[in-house]
Order: sequence, then structure tokens, then C-alpha cells
Amino acid sequence: MVLLFLSKVDRADWWRQELTARVPGLEMRFWPETGAREDIEFALVWKPPKGEMRRYPNLKAIFSLGAGVDHLLRDPELPAGVPLCRIVDRALTTQMSEYVLLHVLRYHRQQPLFDRQQQAHEWRDQPQLRAHERPVGIMGMGVLGRDAAAKLVALDFAVAGWSRSPKSLPGVESFHGADGLAPFLARSEILVCLLPLTQATEGILNRDTFARLPEGAALINVARGGHLVEDDLIPALDAGRLSAATLDVFRREPLPADHAFWADPRITVTPHVASIADPRSVADQVAENIRRARAGAPLLNVVDPAVGY
Ligand code: NAP
Ligand code: GLV
Repeated sequence: MVLLFLSKVDRADWWRQELTARVPGLEMRFWPETGAREDIEFALVWKPPKGEMRRYPNLKAIFSLGAGVDHLLRDPELPAGVPLCRIVDRALTTQMSEYVLLHVLRYHRQQPLFDRQQQAHEWRDQPQLRAHERPVGIMGMGVLGRDAAAKLVALDFAVAGWSRSPKSLPGVESFHGADGLAPFLARSEILVCLLPLTQATEGILNRDTFARLPEGAALINVARGGHLVEDDLIPALDAGRLSAATLDVFRREPLPADHAFWADPRITVTPHVASIADPRSVADQVAENIRRARAGAPLLNVVDPAVGY
């Protein structure tokens, strides 16, 4: 039983330790040292080269090393009929909510303004809204969006979510579909993007979207770089449409050293670290899916390639 590990992220030994401890008899190979390709039954991957996954004729399942699968579905040669599983994991979810709360609270409590005042040695208090007066909008009410929403509700924020299908979540105002987008944006002073990257959501963070937000809104994009039309961000900040942005994901990663986002004091850049798959917990579901695939049982966390997430 052979699993191919393919990722530039250097956690290969860790994954080997956690997976072989859970799956007796599992052999792991590390791309590009694949050995005989017909031996490979499973692949655990992050951003494989286009066409790579079709080179393994006996593949039973492909496991994404992330919650998102856009890095796989953009491959037109992805083998049809091989189930594609994503990560749904408590630790990953909790870590994402930590990141979202950190930056929502920063903006809500005007920390960037106090940072500037500190630089100027300026002692000045500022009027402070209460959390229930601060409307936060979360685009994407899936596993991650729902958890962040519940934690923001627990802090008393006025939370709304936008999704494809209607939702009923305690304390969360629900908007859905194309018709729900404009009213959702109109009330979102802090906008958090937790959508999957699909044909429908590519470029959704653009000048028209920003124009529908309350003036001076803050943006937090923790989903994918492809959601943001990068050329629209700095003009929206210059015009006061947006006051600030926190970006964890970018169209090109690593973000090129000469990219304008690095030096703009209104933009907070983090290197795609909002939430990272931890082998100590995620290995459980990969091991369970290997057992299921070998037993011919339905797999966990299978995505629908036709929908894109
Ligand atoms: P998920 O459970 O699949 O949820 C996706 C949500 O987006 C669902 O609520 C879905 O609506 C909604 N949605 C999809 N297409 C839509 C559209 N066209 N219009 C409106 N709503 C739409 O995904 P998740 O596990 O929460 O993860 C979300 C994304 O976070 C991942 O795809 C990944 O890109 C990103 N991520 C980033 C990091 C990081 O470190 N930066 C870490 C993990 C994940 P329905 O509920 O109606 O289906
Ligand atoms: C990370 O970006 C993920 O999709 O889990």
C-alpha cells in the first residue's frame, strides 16, 4: 500500500511519522522519487504540477493537504472518477478562527490608529464602539466561516454571513446568493472572506464590491489570493472606500519582494499562515479514508468537482 506525498512545504517527515503510525503497512514515497507509478494508490498533495495526478493509473483517492481544493481543480487533466478529499479538521478550524478574531478585534478596537499614535508619541483616546454596534460580514459560511461567526457572536459582534444556500445559525443574519450580496455588503464594516476559490468567486473582492461596503470598511482575506483583484485594493484605500486590509493569501505566493502591498501601512501581510494543516490531527482523517477506500466504503470530506468545493 503506497501513498505519494507531494508538497513543497517541508513537513514530509512529520507526515510520515503520523501516517505510518496510524496505517500499518503503509509505504510513503516523496515526490519526485515516485518509484513505479502503478504502485501508488493514494496521493497527499499540495499544488501538484498540472497533469501529475493522471500519471498514477491505480490511484484510489487524492487527499488535499488543505481545506481548499482549487490547487487541484485548476488541473484540466485531473483524473475524473478518482475521489478528491479535503481537510475538515477541528485544529485547522480553531486556528482560522483565532486569526479572524485577532484581526477583527484589531480593527474594531482601532489598533492600527493607536499604533500610528504611538509612533508619533501621541496620547489621545478615541471614541470606541461596542461590539454589538460593529457589523462584521463573513463571505462563506462553511466549516470555517461558521466557526468564526459563532466565536464573533460570542463576543457580541453583529455578525452576518453570505453563502450559496440559506443558513440558520444562532445570532447570525443570513444572506445568500447573488441577490443577497448587496444587502450583506451594505452592512459589513469588517468584511472577512472565507469562500472557496471557484469560477463563481474568482475576483469577487473588487472595486464594485468595495463600493457597496460602508465607507471606510476593513477587509480581511483569508481565503485565496484569486478572490482579490489586486489592482483594485490600493485605489480603494486611497479613496477611503476601505480603511485597511489584512491579507494572508495572494495571487503569487510568496508575495514578490517588490509588490506594493508590502510597503503600504494600511495593508497587513501574512505569509499564508492563517491556518495550517497539522499532521498530528489531520493524519486521523487521511488514515480513516485510506481504510475506507480499501474497504470500498464512502470516503470522508469528498468534494464535488462540478461545484468546485
Ligand atoms: P467550505 O466548508 O466548503 O465552505 C464554503 C462556503 O462558501 C459555503 O458556505 C458555501 O456556500 C460558500 N460559497 C461557495 N461558493 C459560493 C458562492 N458562489 N456564493 C456564495 N457563497 C459561496 O469551506 P471551508 O472549509 O470553510 O474553507 C473555505 C476556504 O478557506 C477554503 O476553500 C480555502 O481556500 C480557505 N482556507 C485558507 C486557509 C489559510 O490559511 N489562509 C486555511 C484553510 C482554508 P454553501 O454553504 O451554500 O455551500
Ligand atoms: C490552506 O490554505 C487550506 O486550504 O487549508
